[in-house]
Amino acid sequence: MKILVVGGGGREHAIIKKLKENETVEQIFALPGNGGIAKDATCVPIGAKDIPAIVAFARENAIDFAVVAPDDPLVLGAVDALNAEGIPCFGPKANAAIIEGSKVFSKNLMKKYGIPTARYEVFTDPASALAYLEDAPIPTVIKADGLALGKGVIIATSREEAMAAVRSMMEEKQFGESGSRVVIEEFLTGPEVSVLAFTDGKVVRPMVSSMDHKRALDHDEGLNTGGMGTVAPNPYYTEEIAKVCMETIFLPTVRAMNEEGRPFQGCLYFGLMLTPDGPKVIEYNCRFGDPETQVVLPLLESDLLTVMQACASGTLADVEVRFSTGSACCVIMASKGYPGKYESGCPLTLPEDDADGFIYVAGAKKEGEGLVSAGGRVLGVTAVADDLPTAIQKAYERVGRVDFANGYARSDIGARAMLALQK
Ligand code: AMP
Ligand code: GLY
Repeated sequence: MKILVVGGGGREHAIIKKLKENETVEQIFALPGNGGIAKDATCVPIGAKDIPAIVAFARENAIDFAVVAPDDPLVLGAVDALNAEGIPCFGPKANAAIIEGSKVFSKNLMKKYGIPTARYEVFTDPASALAYLEDAPIPTVIKADGLALGKGVIIATSREEAMAAVRSMMEEKQFGESGSRVVIEEFLTGPEVSVLAFTDGKVVRPMVSSMDHKRALDHDEGLNTGGMGTVAPNPYYTEEIAKVCMETIFLPTVRAMNEEGRPFQGCLYFGLMLTPDGPKVIEYNCRFGDPETQVVLPLLESDLLTVMQACASGTLADVEVRFSTGSACCVIMASKGYPGKYESGCPLTLPEDDADGFIYVAGAKKEGEGLVSAGGRVLGVTAVADDLPTAIQKAYERVGRVDFANGYARSDIGARAMLALQK
């Protein structure tokens, strides 16, 4: 089998490494991949958003199966375009990817089908949004409607901050057209849990739960980032809560998408908050999370390609999706300055992977024989073990063996999960 993976970050590296475990896989192409992924796949310099070039490449190279990992090409219809060429794909079509592509769509879907989420209002003009904020409860949450590189969410702790966020999204167009509609929603509290789920549009198979660490610095301080580390499973997500989520969130969402004529096939990501009133949806993503994938896939014992093919062909009921009972930890090493300004081009020397410790490369390119950093998030240093404390310890031990002079990592990935375990 010849496989094509669209994307070029740590998540794609984790997907590629897992796909390689299937013996029928002869070759994997990564579009565009990166210097670190090049160890595991053939990287082709085609951008993840260049759909005509992706489709042409797939046709010319007789690709048997494609995996579209990032949000942009999914929302832009990469799966539709590949399917039109007869190439089966893992990932939702554009009409289902809208569940991430438009917050207004996803909020209205949840309201219509009674799926628990924060109360909200939608605004299409700044004057009415600002008027609403005059006496809205504070803190409040302001969200740009469209994709905004994960930065379109502002938790405003004062009325002034809330109004400034509305002005910058709706008037100054900080996120371009993504901000022409905004959602203003109730501020929820409670532990956050990420659950990625395989679905073929009918059956839902949740993966092991995980916990992201979004802030740049220790103790959840500093700016929001794309994610500075993850652990799996998430100790807050008990079996009892999992049952509630299946009945009140996962199955209702998949059914709702069917009702709307937008069957979702691929990986549906549920960003959940375990509030005092029960689990609620904070956000949906139409794809694998990054860096959640880096801790979830190493714990998958079933064959990833088989599961992905079943999602694409509507036969997920027939395949087993099994996870190990162990734990995983991924510590992101980022360029100093990230998520603000940072420098690239710093030499990287990485320890060899072994059976329970490996490095997923998110942002690096080849220079001569070596690798240099090329991006904000650079490495996902990952370990698996029988229990969480050991996984965390092994991941950090591996971080200590990385030579990346311009890099930084949080030192407390998994600390909150450990506290929860001790309760
Ligand atoms: P997102 O970019 O949608 O993942 O949101 C970023 C983060 O904002 C989430 O991980 C939550 O921590 C937080 N957040 C989003 N919506 C809410 C809400 N309604 N109440 C409290 N926190 C929220
Ligand atoms: N880690 C959160 C995301 O992938 O959006």
